[in-house]
Amino acid sequence: MDPQVIRRIEELRRQLRHHNYRYYVLDDPEISDAQYDRLLRELEDLEARHPELITPDSPTQRVGARPLEKFETLAHTVPMLSLENGFSREEVFEFEARLKRFLKRDLLIEYTVEPKMDGLAVELIYENGQLIRSATRGDGYAGEDVTQNIRTIRAIPLRLSAEAGTPSRLEVRGEVYLRLKDFRELNRRREASGGPAFANPRNAAAGSLRQLDSRLTAQRPLFFFAYGIGDRAGLTLGSQWAVLQDLGHWGLPVNPFIKTVQGIEACWDYCREMEDRRPGLPYEIDGVVIKVNDWDLQDELGIKSRSPRWALAFKFQPSQENTRVLKIEVQVGRTGTLTPVAYLEPVQVGGVEVSRATLHNQDEIERKDIRIGDTVIVQRAGDVIPEVVKVVASLRTGRERPFQMPDHCPVCRSPVVRLPGEAAHRCNNPNCPAQIKESIRHFASQGAMDVDGLGEKLVNQLVDKGLIRDYGDLYALTREILVPLERLAEKSADNLLAALEKSKKTSLARFLFALGIRFVGEHVAAVLAGHFGNLEALAAASEEDLLAVKEVGPQVAGSVRSFFATPENRRVIEKLRNSGVQWREGKSVPRTLKFSGKTFVLTGRLTRFTREEAKEQILALGGKVAGAVSARTDFLVAGEDPGSKWENARELGVRVIGEEDFAGMLAAEREPKSNNE
Ligand code: IVH
Repeated sequence: MDPQVIRRIEELRRQLRHHNYRYYVLDDPEISDAQYDRLLRELEDLEARHPELITPDSPTQRVGARPLEKFETLAHTVPMLSLENGFSREEVFEFEARLKRFLKRDLLIEYTVEPKMDGLAVELIYENGQLIRSATRGDGYAGEDVTQNIRTIRAIPLRLSAEAGTPSRLEVRGEVYLRLKDFRELNRRREASGGPAFANPRNAAAGSLRQLDSRLTAQRPLFFFAYGIGDRAGLTLGSQWAVLQDLGHWGLPVNPFIKTVQGIEACWDYCREMEDRRPGLPYEIDGVVIKVNDWDLQDELGIKSRSPRWALAFKFQPSQENTRVLKIEVQVGRTGTLTPVAYLEPVQVGGVEVSRATLHNQDEIERKDIRIGDTVIVQRAGDVIPEVVKVVASLRTGRERPFQMPDHCPVCRSPVVRLPGEAAHRCNNPNCPAQIKESIRHFASQGAMDVDGLGEKLVNQLVDKGLIRDYGDLYALTREILVPLERLAEKSADNLLAALEKSKKTSLARFLFALGIRFVGEHVAAVLAGHFGNLEALAAASEEDLLAVKEVGPQVAGSVRSFFATPENRRVIEKLRNSGVQWREGKSVPRTLKFSGKTFVLTGRLTRFTREEAKEQILALGGKVAGAVSARTDFLVAGEDPGSKWENARELGVRVIGEEDFAGMLAAEREPKSNNE
């Protein structure tokens, strides 16, 4: 081998790494894109002629060769925790008060303060300085192995810079994100090619990172900021600040706005400062993360269920804009709930276009007095789901029209009912095509039977043409039925049939969830499956039997009873069984959801939901609802005029949250249903 070739290859790699670093990490390039491309091409040519000299960390090796079949699961050696949120000055100050109460001493605490990037958390694993593996956060304990895709992100070094001396193993944690201008450009191109736009930069980043074909990821300009480490083995750093500094020395991008400050007052000043800077930043941040700097102090404070006691995420107020309500239409959900939706003149809210907002229900519309034609203030709650905050009444012209919920279902024309105690109007016709379509979509959805390729348009066609009447008919679909359908290629038909076949083997928990029993969300389904072990036992269970299950209340019990007492439902289950659908029986351990293990107490008058609806939402996310506040309560949701529960909560140091915060938590939970392409 010609030693000059080897030397040239090494020199080119060194230069390319250096320029990558200047461009992606320091945001301060020294050469033009064309010059960079020339260097890269020279290296590619040399490596093509001497393939035996290619190394995995060469700058040419950023795109994996073959698309994956699926992502493997990768367990985190140290769980990737989440953060407790604070939404106000009081809650930021209360955070420090809590620390001092826990430490039982008064001291001046040093913090690091960091922008909270609104992207996607990942872990990068370096061994002997080489990037060997990378995973998404997943449920905090295990994520998806996205190594091939992470390697395409040029801000992420394939090998660490050795100046600082690299540990034998390093687990870097940080956020993958998309810049706002790249997000807009990506959506512009997707829309131009007839594809669906991403709702926000975070979903776009998530969708891009979860591509099975890394060549697609490579076309998305993803960026990265490191903010922490996992396993501390062998590191003698001693503080979060030292970690951030070393991450930078190792060649990883670290947000330039990080700081250390003394005391909580200074943290609050920083929160306000970042909120002012926010509109001018090239990427989305949704808050500030405050972390106790010193590792010894962090260790002393420890971890509380799934978040460290030593950190707080201060979340910004959602961004708001003015726009106009063009019309209000009603959507019919899976359980017949009628939801009014406002169609808005499209407007950019915090960098994302908003053209629709849910109005929840009639009470909400009346409370806010929203009329068609009104100028309204919209915001993205939890920064994702847009909502109408209020009407700008001073801009009324007199031509606005009030909205009235229809007294007949807009889809099937059956009379609409509103049960006492419920905020929602419902279509009570179980054969309403809208409900059937939604229940089929739910049946096929990811957490349920997970049938790929059964999109909204196809379900609509199948139901509208009378080809299926319920989800029990799905497995009777054939190529002959599918292929003649509008815009369904033979290939897609075959894929769908294969997906249906594959979905036949499932677990009892998924099957139960798929049935779409009211109040039986993913978590409750898993609890019921784990308790009863098989479908017969559950179907035969009395209300009393059901109530004996931990986490099952009267509502779930009643709903499960009435589902299995309905002959039509039993027939559908038989139909599924006869088509070969089978589920693993026996006890299972329920998956943890974000509210798992969290106990809520409700007090005062809620305006946006009834008590029952709020409960339903909490249960669906794995939480519990108790009647009285105790030391074991995690959150008191306080509506208007809260009574003694509120005082009890204050005394016991239980977190009190308002209805808005609660709605924000729910919205945040529903977030990244990313547009998977
Ligand atoms: S620290 C134990 N720092 O916010 C500490 N998180 O719920 C765990 N995030 O999904 C995270 N910017 O991806 C930390 N500077 C920052 C962050 C940050 C964004 C995200 C993170 C996680 C969520 C926390």
